Amino acid sequence: MDFELSPEQREIQALTREFADREIQPHAATWDREHTFPRDVFTKLAELGLMGACVPEEYGGAGTDFLSYILMLEELSRADAGVGVTVAVHTSAVTLPLLTFGTDEQRSRFVPPLARGEHLGAFALTEAEAGSDAGSLRTRAEPDGDGWRISGAKQWITNGRYAGTFLLFARTDATTAGARGVSAFVLDADDVQVTRDEEKLGLHSSITNDIVVENARVGRDRLLHEEGKGFRVAMQTLDGGRIGIAAQALGIAQAAYEVALAYARERHTFGKPIAEHQAIQQKLADMSMEIDAARLLVHRAAWLKDRGDPVTEAGAKAKLFASEMARRQTAEAIQILGGYGYTKEFPVERYYRDAKITEIYEGTSEIQRIVIARAILGLQAAGAARA
Ligand code: CAA
Repeated sequence: MDFELSPEQREIQALTREFADREIQPHAATWDREHTFPRDVFTKLAELGLMGACVPEEYGGAGTDFLSYILMLEELSRADAGVGVTVAVHTSAVTLPLLTFGTDEQRSRFVPPLARGEHLGAFALTEAEAGSDAGSLRTRAEPDGDGWRISGAKQWITNGRYAGTFLLFARTDATTAGARGVSAFVLDADDVQVTRDEEKLGLHSSITNDIVVENARVGRDRLLHEEGKGFRVAMQTLDGGRIGIAAQALGIAQAAYEVALAYARERHTFGKPIAEHQAIQQKLADMSMEIDAARLLVHRAAWLKDRGDPVTEAGAKAKLFASEMARRQTAEAIQILGGYGYTKEFPVERYYRDAKITEIYEGTSEIQRIVIARAILGLQAAGAARA
């Protein structure tokens, strides 16, 4: 067993940290306050090759392994979790499934603009009445000549307003309910109307939209993977995406820990730094231990993915633990800072607000527990059992 990162992995980690410390972290509080989507940051990240992590060079990417991508997401999220989710959705929820499931023609056409950061990607699965129960989605793709006409409304679409490429899931078989009969399509921004910007508790530097697709005509060249296999595309995509959200949670918790540690050394009560009081030491010890534990789960899941092993269970465990840990430990960071922690003078209240969503998107904690339980109990997915 080797816990060392490779020289290439350390290089990406250092490159991202240096970029994030210079170009992101100093602006994060303002972006949060003013709800600014920092589009130029993604152009600069693209210049470093970081919008095309895990994408082979022939498709315009940096050709990194998955663990490098995860290290990068942690560093970005340590500076600004909104930037972290934008890159996470763009990469693991859109670019990578296009690489995995696309034909040669689809890869050559759709991946390079994403990998070069010219387009942002958006993942359009969720609907008003299909969140955790993603298989009940209603967006329809009706046969039309040698293609389909797609109509429907999607909700909670990260990057929607700024996206050039949408991976969108629609029902091609109206006679089948549930996960069967769903297909995955690649849409351009022209096919999609953005109808609303969501107002959120946190992640104010990211954008979340309602979108509508009305009678968009797509040919077979826009179908990703086989007709009717779209739900599998979605699930396999989320298996990897959840490791990215786990890394995002880890980055937020790491940032909160660093602020709390520095504050505990500086702040004096009862004649000594609060770091010398056991009550604070115990909090810092727990923070450090839980962050370590989350990092080990996240890195193991990424390592399994790099080996080509299944990551359904390992990814769900990493996301579940890291997200709940981030919510707990960002709250503890506020507690260490006391009244200051509750103010905008310090960033920990932002970390707390940002951490909460990691327990919800890309599958709630309750869904992660279902996924883990099915794996450890050897239960067949409900869909497989119906077969
Ligand atoms: N990999 C591949 N295939 C899978 C799979 C996986 N991990 N999990 C399930 N499948 C397949 C099954 O084998 C089955 O295939 P067949 O029909 O061919 O047999 C099919 O998918 C249906 O599976 P289930 O019966 O298990 O489906 P279900 O309806 O019981 O749902 C679920 C399972 C795990 C609850 C799923 O609905 C789920 O993950 N829900 C959460 C949705 C989610 O995470 N949404 C996130 C939105 S994106 C987002 O948040 C992005 C962002 O903005 C940050």
